[in-house]
Amino acid sequence: MEEKKIMLSGIQPSGDLHLGNYLGAIKNWADRAQEFDCYYFMADLHTITVRQNPADLRRRSMQQLAAYIACGLDPEKNTLFLQSMVPQHAQLSWVLSCYTQFGELSRMTQFKDKSAKHKDNINAGLFTYPVLMAADILLYQPHYVPVGADQKQHVELTRDIAQRFNSIYGDVFRVPEPYIPKAGARIYGLTTPGDKMSKSIPEGCVFLMDDPAVIARKFKRAVTDSDRENCVRYDPENKPGVANLMNIYASVTGKTFEEIEKEFEGQGYGVFKPAVGEAVIETLRPIREETDRLIKDKAYLESVYKEGAARASYIASKTLRKVYKKVGFVQI
Ligand code: TRP
Repeated sequence: MEEKKIMLSGIQPSGDLHLGNYLGAIKNWADRAQEFDCYYFMADLHTITVRQNPADLRRRSMQQLAAYIACGLDPEKNTLFLQSMVPQHAQLSWVLSCYTQFGELSRMTQFKDKSAKHKDNINAGLFTYPVLMAADILLYQPHYVPVGADQKQHVELTRDIAQRFNSIYGDVFRVPEPYIPKAGARIYGLTTPGDKMSKSIPEGCVFLMDDPAVIARKFKRAVTDSDRENCVRYDPENKPGVANLMNIYASVTGKTFEEIEKEFEGQGYGVFKPAVGEAVIETLRPIREETDRLIKDKAYLESVYKEGAARASYIASKTLRKVYKKVGFVQI
């Protein structure tokens, strides 16, 4: 039998999961387990590059694990784990940091953005964050790394680091490919259709755990367009708000843009917006209910993360052992 290809990705539990995370990432991860050997983790080590409230971080990490499962990631078929429970991430990160140049890290756009935003806390972790991400990835020898377009630069750096290391020591790491979702999977804020949906603008962000009434209200207030055409037509250039809503509606119903235009022909945004809201509410309802149920089942979640950490650590330790040997550390 041919070995399955390996896929890996992570999301930082720095905010509650939202519709952008679900439609842009997690939903697409869920049906890959047939074809790929999949690793999905909560990137909790990454979150502390920005100050976190410890109790919130713990709660969100567990909630994110519960939500992964509720979104269809079966822990029997996927390796689900918390990054901080697998010590090899931090260990490999140190080694790789010695094979990454200051200049390379200085050029990372996310570093430039985040250090501009948090001027009072430009810590070394913020700077070396892409090295930790490279370690996250390379430990598992994945073929593909599904990430949003904003993380592509980090995956490219990961490839450079892997190639550099391999050119010195032989084939230690598989050089992974980024796996960027199609444009359709990118979800923008409901009130800011120029920017991706983000927890930092909560009124335009639909959280997976939002109440139906809250979701309905957010969609009613969604920005459409300013041309007063009041017509549901897919035109992302001139009507980005409407295009975003159509995209969301298409993602949750499986309908094409043409079908959507037909469905709302002759009806304005006053009908369209609540209809999108309703479709999203129905999509998220079972996810929210299942997440809620799982969060209460502490023993089950504990068994999932223990098992996940054990599996992840087993694979990660094989790569780390090879790396330690190659660079010249004495083996036990
Ligand atoms: N940096 C990613 C983000 O902020 C999260 C992440 C950390 C990640 N490690 C990763 C994604 C490894 C993919 C693979 O979105």
